[in-house]
Amino acid sequence: MLEKDVEARGLWSSKFGFILAAAGSAIGLGNIWRFPYTTGQNGGGAFLVLYLICIILLGLPIMIAELAIGRHSRRDPVGAFEVIRPGSPWKLIGYMGVTTGICILSYYSVLAGYTVGYIGKSLAGNSTSYEAFTSNPLVSIPLFLAFIVITVLVVQGGVKNGIERWARILMPTLMVLLVILIIRSITLKGAGEGLAFYFKPDFSKVTGSTVLAALGQAFFSLSLGMGAMITYGSYLSKDDNLVASGCYVAFFDTLIAVMAGLLIFPAIFAMNMSPDEGPGLVFKVLPRIFGLIPGGRIVGAFFFILLSIAALTSTISLLEVVTSYLVDEKHWLRRKAVWIVAAVTFLLGLPAALSQEGMVPWLAKLPGLGTSFLGFMDWLFGNIMLGIGAVFIAIFTGWVWKKEISSKELREGFPGFDRIAPVLFFLLRFFCPVVILIVLFFIFKAGV
Ligand code: PFF
Repeated sequence: MLEKDVEARGLWSSKFGFILAAAGSAIGLGNIWRFPYTTGQNGGGAFLVLYLICIILLGLPIMIAELAIGRHSRRDPVGAFEVIRPGSPWKLIGYMGVTTGICILSYYSVLAGYTVGYIGKSLAGNSTSYEAFTSNPLVSIPLFLAFIVITVLVVQGGVKNGIERWARILMPTLMVLLVILIIRSITLKGAGEGLAFYFKPDFSKVTGSTVLAALGQAFFSLSLGMGAMITYGSYLSKDDNLVASGCYVAFFDTLIAVMAGLLIFPAIFAMNMSPDEGPGLVFKVLPRIFGLIPGGRIVGAFFFILLSIAALTSTISLLEVVTSYLVDEKHWLRRKAVWIVAAVTFLLGLPAALSQEGMVPWLAKLPGLGTSFLGFMDWLFGNIMLGIGAVFIAIFTGWVWKKEISSKELREGFPGFDRIAPVLFFLLRFFCPVVILIVLFFIFKAGV
């Protein structure tokens, strides 16, 4: 691709802009909603250790591989595989990624809509239960729709003007809000027990399912396995160090997840509540905690603003994957692509929005599966499909893509790449495929 075409397609305006946007994609409901409840259900400290191992040994290599594929090809996930291996079935991984993107976006926006609703609910001091709130379609559906529209308005602006500008404002705000809330949480009476639960690993609690949960959480949280980082990498300049950029993004994502735990566990223990509340943890427990502390309404509203911000920078990246495919491959105008994808996402998300208890019983408990439609979508697309995508990306980069070419790509912006190349290629060729395949096998065996 000529330099001027690369410019016209869009580039991040600076290294910092990319890191903010990619960290914005990674940091989301996965860190603040999913990570604490999963940690709580899996025994605390020991899960944290396993999660950190998964991030370093599996997440980081795949993140670097995705960024290299994206920058080398300067295309969306489908086009990227086509550029590197023309006419081969490898582009199916790209199609899988685009499909997974729309599907995750659909239920993720439903949850993101709740977070927006909870801002107003906290401010008003409204004590409606989580169940009553989420099972009112007149509330959840407009919020869901509003969240998609906000995402569209940002993505419509393109790479530099839309995504990067917003990430620049939103991500630092998020950090500051978290620090303020953590200080409040760890100074609550009885917070020490929560800190011990979170930081003192008890490995006797580790089982096979703890490992599965840690791995799934690592991919979901780092936005890996569906080409989001291929897409964001495609807007990176040749001067950028892909390995360092990947490390920064993984570091910030992990930092926010660890901070979210630091906010939630001390508070839970201080309030004599149970850490294994499940997916409703943030929505059910936190408002009660905020209600018991001075200035709780404001603190609560702050928290849900923070969660909405984090969710928005993630939905932006999910929509961008699909949009870049339609713009690059189908030559649609960006404006047309985003609105059409939004309409499809809305229709796909409706069953998830209606799957809360009390609305449509069979969606709340899918026949034969016993899970809600939303839970099923999260399991299938947020776990399985990301895992499958990650295996193929590791195999593609490790075995299919010519090593001289991938190494040359990774050396651009990082002349010392050859020193770490053996470790990276070992992880991509052997470690990642073998470990993820074993884990996927057990996930299938265990069921939804
Ligand atoms: N990483 C996001 C989160 O933790 O909330 C979710 C996500 C975004 C997953 C983008 C996958 C993706 F491509």
